Amino acid sequence: MKFSVQNLIKLGNVDSVYTIFGWVRSKRGNKQITFLAVNDGSCFENIQVVSELEKDLKNINTGSSVRVTGKLKESKGSGQKYELIADEIELIGSANPESYPIQPKAHTLEFLRENSHLRFRTTTFSSVFRIRHAISFAVHKFFNERNFYYLNTPLITTSDAEGAGEMFRVTNLKPGEKNYSNDFFGKETYLTVSGQLEAELGALGLGKVYTFGPTFRAENSNTSRHLAEFWMIEPEISFADLDDVIKLAVEMIKYIINYVLENYKSDLIFLNDRAIKEQLKLKKEARDEFNLLEKLNNIINQDFEIIEYSDAIEILKKSKHNKKGKFKFPVNDWGVDLQSEHEKYLVEKKFKKPVVIINYPKEIKAFYMRMNDDNKTVAAMDILMPGIGEVVGGSQREERLDHLIKRMNGMNISKDELWWYLDTRKFGTVPHGGFGLGLERLVQFITGMNNIRDVIPFARTPKNIEF
Ligand code: 4AD
Ligand code: MG
Repeated sequence: MKFSVQNLIKLGNVDSVYTIFGWVRSKRGNKQITFLAVNDGSCFENIQVVSELEKDLKNINTGSSVRVTGKLKESKGSGQKYELIADEIELIGSANPESYPIQPKAHTLEFLRENSHLRFRTTTFSSVFRIRHAISFAVHKFFNERNFYYLNTPLITTSDAEGAGEMFRVTNLKPGEKNYSNDFFGKETYLTVSGQLEAELGALGLGKVYTFGPTFRAENSNTSRHLAEFWMIEPEISFADLDDVIKLAVEMIKYIINYVLENYKSDLIFLNDRAIKEQLKLKKEARDEFNLLEKLNNIINQDFEIIEYSDAIEILKKSKHNKKGKFKFPVNDWGVDLQSEHEKYLVEKKFKKPVVIINYPKEIKAFYMRMNDDNKTVAAMDILMPGIGEVVGGSQREERLDHLIKRMNGMNISKDELWWYLDTRKFGTVPHGGFGLGLERLVQFITGMNNIRDVIPFARTPKNIEF
């Protein structure tokens, strides 16, 4: 019977004969007996294949793909429950040990990044990508259970929703030609930076929607938290205020973490040990005192700290850190944008838990956010997580037509271009809001991987477009 390794371990009967397919992770033994650790990606565990078929094994090395038929037995050795006593081993594809890059030894993450096409076969990356899948699946499950509809928003757009001007142009004009009325759509077009504006349209009819798709930003930030192409989940809810938006985001983060903890234990335990080893390599003062599993369990059982931007600024201003000049960007005045060092301080030093910052100055936030009664701040919220910083950005939206027009005028945003957006405020407008959660940042948080390039199969970053 043909079985995946996952099914074999879960459902296999001792003394029955099974056929499995997979890649050899390692080979050891002596003249009489050989042990192959075979993994097919279906789960964290390998199946140990025990073989006395010396001649069949000659060209089988680490990286080879094989078919094995044999009898399932309880394993005598430690480390695994079962083993497969091979009756037949077929080499499907060989991997020359002289040239196959992924050998059974510790490779650096940088090296594996350069070999992104093969890194799915490593323990670390197969765990990371199984968990990435689990997170995406939990997202759909979470929203479906709460009657949200999944809405697909366009990838090609004319609008810069976030107003940051960091867009990739989409064109089929010949080089040098500048007249966009001759371009494919007859207008200047870009890859989307957010599906939010269209998600709002959906929510103002379907009630509750979410998008889950790729997003593109031409920011020249070569950090361990930024990608030029990343995936974002953007729910939008009608008849809702900022509190509802925060509640939804916190509930969703906890739900996803819980789902991964319940269903991907082996992968998490491995990544936990890995994260601890990485931590031990750092200088003592640079170590976060954490254990991945403990950290994830804490998140589920903790309230997130909710604080006003103004209070966050006061805390930062008065902090020893600021007074001793330890911030690269000193905090002196109300109105400055928070840098990642400030977020880090609030989350890791001050509150030691996730922090939701609300009501930011209008000057540093997008045009669509709802103006507060003070006329200085908008109903925005960012969720900052330990070790990662901002994972969620959201807001209540400006549903009042006159306020929205005033704000667009003030920020030089074309009302003609966004006539459709304004229409939703002219006809049957309602209080509503939503947020964007960066998938990769959440994958980083849950897997404990330090670099965002290691949690997306093929990373797109400045000057890097291999694969
Ligand atoms: O805070 P942002 O820019 O918010 C929006 O795009 C809103 N339209 C969301 C909404 O209200 N519907 O981005 C949302 C999240 C960030 O918190 C971060 O997690 C992630 O997207 N993100 C990035 N992730 C990876 N690489 C980048 N360059 C990212 N930029 C933002
Ligand atoms: Mg943001």
